Formats: sequence, C-alpha cells, structure tokens
Amino acid sequence: MKNITIIGTGYVGLVTGAGMSEFGNKVICADIDSRKIGKLNSGLIPIYEPGLEEIIKKNFENSRLFFSSDIESSIKKAEVVVIAVGTPQGENGMADLRFVDSVVNTISRNLNSYKVICTKSTVPIGTGKDIIKIINNNIHDKKMFDYVSNPEFLREGSAVKDFLWPDRVIIGTDSDKAYKIMCDIYRPLYINKNPIAYTSVETAEMIKYASNSFLALKISYINEIANLCELLGADVHDVANAMGKDGRISDKFLHPGPGFGGSCFPKDLEALLAVSKNNELKMETVKAAIIANKNQKKRMTRKLLDLFNNNLNKCTISILGLAFKANTNDIRESASIDMINFIIEHGGIVNAYDPIANSEMYKIFDAIEYYDNVYDSIKDTDGIVIMTEWNEFRSLDFKRIKKYMRGNIILDTRNILNMDELSEFGFTYDNVGRIKK
Ligand code: UDX
Repeated sequence: MKNITIIGTGYVGLVTGAGMSEFGNKVICADIDSRKIGKLNSGLIPIYEPGLEEIIKKNFENSRLFFSSDIESSIKKAEVVVIAVGTPQGENGMADLRFVDSVVNTISRNLNSYKVICTKSTVPIGTGKDIIKIINNNIHDKKMFDYVSNPEFLREGSAVKDFLWPDRVIIGTDSDKAYKIMCDIYRPLYINKNPIAYTSVETAEMIKYASNSFLALKISYINEIANLCELLGADVHDVANAMGKDGRISDKFLHPGPGFGGSCFPKDLEALLAVSKNNELKMETVKAAIIANKNQKKRMTRKLLDLFNNNLNKCTISILGLAFKANTNDIRESASIDMINFIIEHGGIVNAYDPIANSEMYKIFDAIEYYDNVYDSIKDTDGIVIMTEWNEFRSLDFKRIKKYMRGNIILDTRNILNMDELSEFGFTYDNVGRIKK
C-alpha cells in the first residue's frame, strides 16, 4: 500500500486517483479549486464518466480516497506525487506548461521525505528532463526524489475501464527504485497480464504522442478514404471491414465521421508538430492529419449546404449530439461547434439536443434553443444533423420524425442511421462514404 497524492482533479486526475485507491493505495486527490474539492467531498463529481461515481464513492467511504485543496500538506504526506494538471495548447501549438511548472515548484518546496514524482499529464518530449532540473535547483539533497513519466491512455467515456484494464502501462524513469515503487502501485494489473513497460523518460513521453497522433492519423486517413468512396461508388464500411481483418491494420479507429475532436488529439498533434519544428524536422504525416481533420469538419458543413441547395437562410435545423463523442459531456473541439457556427453564419436557426452535453454547449452558444429530448428538438424543423454517435440516435422512430418535421433532410455524419429506413420514409439524406440505397 502506498500513500499517493494526485495533483489535478480533471478526468485524468480523478480517474487515476480513484483507480489507484481501488488498487488498495491511500490516495489524496488535491486541487487548488477549493469549490471543486468541496463538491467532491459532498459526493458531487464534476465530470461524467461511466463507473466513476461508484468507484469514487466506494473508496471514499472506505477511507482510501480523500479530496483536499491543501496542496502542500497533501504533497508532504505522499510517497508518490502524481502531476495530473491540464496542459492546454499554447502559442504556436506548443503545450502550455504553466500549471505543470507551478505544481513542480510547489513540490520542490515540500520534499520533506523521499518521493517519486510522476507526470501523468501529457507533456512535450523533454519536459521530464526540465522538471528534474527545476527540482534539483530548488533542493539540496538530490536523493530526495526520483522522476517518472507515466503517461495516460484514457479515452473519455471509457476512462475508468481504460485505467483498470489498460493495454499497457508505461513507466519511464532512470531509477530502479522508482520503477519498483510504481510496479507496486500497478501490481493488481498483473492478475490478467503484465502490461508494464520500463523505458527512459523521453521514450515514455514519446510513446504518448506517437500513440495519440497515430490514432488521429488513422481517423483522418479513413475519413479521406470515405470521401473518395463517395466519388467512386465504393462503400467505406465495406472497405474498413475488409481492411480491419488485416491484423496489421486492425478494425479499431476506422470509423469515418465529421472529424475528430476532444481535449487530446487536436492538442497533441499540434504539440508534436511544434516539437518537430523546433528540432527542424518535418513531420508531414502529423501535418496531414491536422489538415485532413480541419477539411473534414468543413466538408460536413458543405454537405448540409448542398442538401439545402445552397440556402440555409431561415431554415431550422436540429443538431442531434453536441459532445465530441458519445458517453461524455465534453464538447472541446467537437465537430458540432463548427456545424452550429456554420448554420448560424448562413442565417439558419439551430435546435440542439444532447443527452448530457447541452449545458456545456450553452457556455459557447447561449442564443440557440436546447431541448431535453430528440423529438421536441426536431418539431417543425427543416433538417436534422446527427453529429455524435449516441446510442439513442441509432433507433430513432422515423415515422414519428417524419410527422414532426416540416422538411425531410437528414445529414448523418456518423453513419449510424439505417439507409433503408431513410429511403422508405422518403427522407433526402447524406452520410459519409456510403453507397446510398
Ligand atoms: C484519445 C485517445 O484515444 C486516448 O488514448 C488518449 O489518452 C486521449 O485521447 P479521447 O480523445 O477521449 O481519447 O477519445 P477517442 O475515443 O480517442 O476519440 C477521439 C475523437 O476521434 C472523437 O471525436 C471520436 O468521435 C473520433 N473518432 C474516434 C472517429 O472519428 N473515428 C474513430 O474511429 C474513432
């Protein structure tokens, strides 16, 4: 059992803290936001993640998980301090490390005993070396800490599952002592298989960026294949299925859509590109993934304009799905934002519905109508756009929709609607890369 302090209570910090307490460790999740900590101590979880509330409640009630806004004392009590603060995109694409720097300085001032300092936040390759320098400049005894890079691979909407059943755990450090301590924390994972890889700090940091940017590239690739399929009469679902049967390709992340969003892919691609530029190395594939993604979001808006014969003025359109993906309320970089902006800019009126992300989108668009169910949102509308692959949109009652809508246009940017049904009910529709029925 270890005493662990996680600094930062976003979805990475909270899920990591809950997961590590689930493994039997004593964990403090610390944050400077005392209001957020107050809510957590009263059982209010600020983010939606399947399974998170239960795992927090269980470990909180068993006194393995604590929440505190006293960062300094939380650091002093810890054997392992995990940095899990945000690293938003900064100038020219580089990650903004001001929160990391602030935490590192606080840690330097509170090294009252030997500690493992572990970075979970996604930081540019080489940051670990800088962190070690900063701490060494602020302390007398270099033996008071060892540094570890332990990047996260949590997907929003399945973060708890991804933490408790990871494909791999990367421990990047030059200290056997720190490596062994981290292995003790992740020991419960040995039950199924030993997913732990022991690397250098820089290698661990690179694994994170290389993994994320490859996944993003894969999405941009299938999106461009889908676009070509439309012009050549091929069906991207059949193409993706056949591609996926090749073990070297795998069928994961081959779902074409409106362009990827989220707090990671867009930011991580820009950060990797910035690091390569700073080292005077061209990374055309990373640049291509970024450009193709921007193009895909624009392509979706052009599709809608085509469906409305280039005139959206005074048309009322229901946007079904606001989150950047299903099972999360996160709208960061969501393709829905581009779509809503486009409709408004072209004189259209937007009705919006998402099972859980309405309030998040309201922070950006407070002058559109929000609804708490699909069917109210589509009443008297001229068109519908599916932007997020929520399960409830996979089984829409088209008979009811036909009756409620004023028009008959549907744009399915996630390819989740049944084209036979769309044709049967006489909708004029479009999607991404499919052979229309
Ligand atoms: C991603 C990485 O998957 C995760 O490992 C990393 O730790 C954080 O970033 P996340 O951004 O939460 O996770 O979601 P993910 O499921 O990867 O989807 C990202 C975006 O790609 C979403 O907008 C999603 O809709 C889109 N996507 C995903 C596709 O368009 N097609 C796909 O096949 C898969």
